[in-house]
Amino acid sequence: MIFETHAHYEDEAFDIDREELLDSFLKNGINHVVNVGSEVGTIDKILALAEQYPFVYAAVGIHPSGTAELNEETFAWLKEKAKHEKNLAIGEIGLDYYWDTPDRAIQKKWFERQIELARELNFPMIIHSRDAANDTYSMLKAAKAEEIGAIIHCFGYGVEQARQYLDMDFYLGIGGVVTFTNGKKLKEVVEYAPLEKLVLETDSPYLSPVPNRGKRNNSFNLTYVAQEIARIKQMDYETVLRVTEENAKRFYRLP
Ligand code: NI
Repeated sequence: MIFETHAHYEDEAFDIDREELLDSFLKNGINHVVNVGSEVGTIDKILALAEQYPFVYAAVGIHPSGTAELNEETFAWLKEKAKHEKNLAIGEIGLDYYWDTPDRAIQKKWFERQIELARELNFPMIIHSRDAANDTYSMLKAAKAEEIGAIIHCFGYGVEQARQYLDMDFYLGIGGVVTFTNGKKLKEVVEYAPLEKLVLETDSPYLSPVPNRGKRNNSFNLTYVAQEIARIKQMDYETVLRVTEENAKRFYRLP
């Protein structure tokens, strides 16, 4: 079975067929979906989806690009939302210097506060880090995040950075980029990292793998991601599915 560790099915890209798509997952081999928060406005939607579907779970958190919406009031609200019984993690949180908005100081402030929230409520974290390798790593180290646990979502750095995060016992989220012909760096990371530290993710509706690159993504495309991991690591496809499912259950503390 396939464990989808990171998707955004509340996105308006799924407004036309969300129920049809989610209804088709269980009978087609996808038995867990974690729907991940990004902006303040997504949180109630992802919790509603988690309530509607037994196999859908939530991660409550604010993406760095959404942190301009945070203040003491919205943060207190977020903390209450994170106590929902279907919430499994604080995410996605981190730093994004590619879009670089809001100001880095604001991104850092709320990254730090959300790391503290994960520690306080005893949840692991889903980390978003784009073009911000050094600051992300140093903030996670300073916060002793190895005691909290994390997936580095859509892992986009090289082997050296992967080694640092594996030393912290983190997981690496592997998605469609691994199938791209220009995804050489990620293929090297996948070859290097133990399968026991990899989890499958789509980031739907974004980042569709080859052969569906450029189209709206959905969790069925994880078959292409798993096939590519199997090819790179010279393992069989079934092993990749089984081990990544076990990894995700261990990370999200599911039975
Ligand atoms: Ni995402």
